[in-house]
Amino acid sequence: MMATDDASRHLLPQRLLVRSYRALSMAAAAIGLIVILIASGSVSPGIGVLVIAIIAFAGWIGGILARRLPHPADVTQGSTARSGVDGLQELIAALPDPTIVLAPDGRVVSFNEQASAMAPALRRGEPVSIALRVPEVVEAVRRTVVGNKAERVEFAERVPADRWSEAFVTPVRDSASTGNRPALLLLTFHDLTPIRRVEEMRADFVANASHELRTPLAALSGFIETLKGPARNDTAARERFLDIMEAQANRMARLIDDLLSLSRIELAAHVRPVTPIELVPVVRQVVDALQTLARDRGVDVNIDAPADRLVVPGDRDELIRVFENLIENALKYGGSGKRVEITLTRGKAPDGSDEAVASVRDYGPGIPAEHIPRLTERFYRVDITGSRALGGTGLGLALVKHVMNRHRGRLIIDSRIGQGSTFTIRLPMSTDGARADRKDIDKSVS
Ligand SMILES: Nc1ncnc2c1ncn2[C@@H]1O[C@H](COP(=O)(O)OP(=O)(O)O)[C@@H](O)[C@H]1O
Ligand SMILES: [Mg+2]
Repeated sequence: MMATDDASRHLLPQRLLVRSYRALSMAAAAIGLIVILIASGSVSPGIGVLVIAIIAFAGWIGGILARRLPHPADVTQGSTARSGVDGLQELIAALPDPTIVLAPDGRVVSFNEQASAMAPALRRGEPVSIALRVPEVVEAVRRTVVGNKAERVEFAERVPADRWSEAFVTPVRDSASTGNRPALLLLTFHDLTPIRRVEEMRADFVANASHELRTPLAALSGFIETLKGPARNDTAARERFLDIMEAQANRMARLIDDLLSLSRIELAAHVRPVTPIELVPVVRQVVDALQTLARDRGVDVNIDAPADRLVVPGDRDELIRVFENLIENALKYGGSGKRVEITLTRGKAPDGSDEAVASVRDYGPGIPAEHIPRLTERFYRVDITGSRALGGTGLGLALVKHVMNRHRGRLIIDSRIGQGSTFTIRLPMSTDGARADRKDIDKSVS
């Protein structure tokens, strides 16, 4: 790496000195020999002076060359150093997170593409604080240089969108690092936004669920107080209150059931159900179970099913929950149209494969467009009071969506104000594990 290069440069003058001492002592010995030869008369003084001059000149030239040419060891170390710098660049380019290499004075040495996408003003040789206007990170860089130990900071940006990140500043030491100062600093960033979003959703969910459970609980407690106190001997009031208490207790039970179903389906989200299920009998069973509700609301329910069987690989209980929710919603929220039509057909997916298509259409008031994308969120309701009055938990369509995901199917909501709503589900008809022509089709619901 670059540091090896620096280290070899530190050693260079020392090696040169040793070599010059050796050359000097050999030259002195040669000059001494020539002086003895002149004194003994074997060599003429003219030639002797000439030889001494040649030796001195050669020494001078040698000195200059020694300073110019690097030692063979320096040559190898120099090339390692150069490839080391390239390696550093390649290494940070290969990292998935935005990464910046800094000199201890905070100037940018190198950075990867992810870093320049994050901070487009990054330039080599410029202080990082120019391109990265995050005081927490600049301060962490300063602390790392002073303390020579790794730092981690979290920071949030509100513009252009809420984003949470963490930054790690790591000192990189090497043999050339002087005192307590690192040779380089590695600055890496990590996006925390998805984790934060999930945390927020969980917190919202717990708050919503607690609120939904507390409302009937508060009603129950209130009636218990009244029954123990003022209404103790009022038989008529007691009967009325007990009915309300029963309804509230049922609501709590439904909520807990729905919450448990949701978490069960979520846990199994990645396991695709494979049991072949005939859809038409499932729908008929659900409609039968909801006959009382339909009669109470004066709604006619019609089923239009094909003559041939519609078989999908699925989980029967989950598919029952899906139709229960869709048909119950149509009866409760769209019941004013006095008509609910359920249509089952065979359709084609965009890739040409067969799909079972089931739609539940009502002629009620319809749903304002701005609510439609949010209907499958947990606890989301267009009219909270209305839904509660009808015993809703706000979890029905969330459940439908999760069941569809697990079945690799889709839920499509279409609604027009004043004309009613259509909830359509599309389910793939076969997988390798469940073929439409298999004999062991689950008929237990028919
Ligand atoms: N067929 C429909 N017509 C009008 N609004 C509907 C219909 N189906 C669902 N909704 C609206 O969507 C909301 C969410 O439905 P859902 O998740 O089943 O919860 P819940 O029925 O428990 O309130 C309902 O509260 C209602 O406001
Ligand atoms: Mg519902």
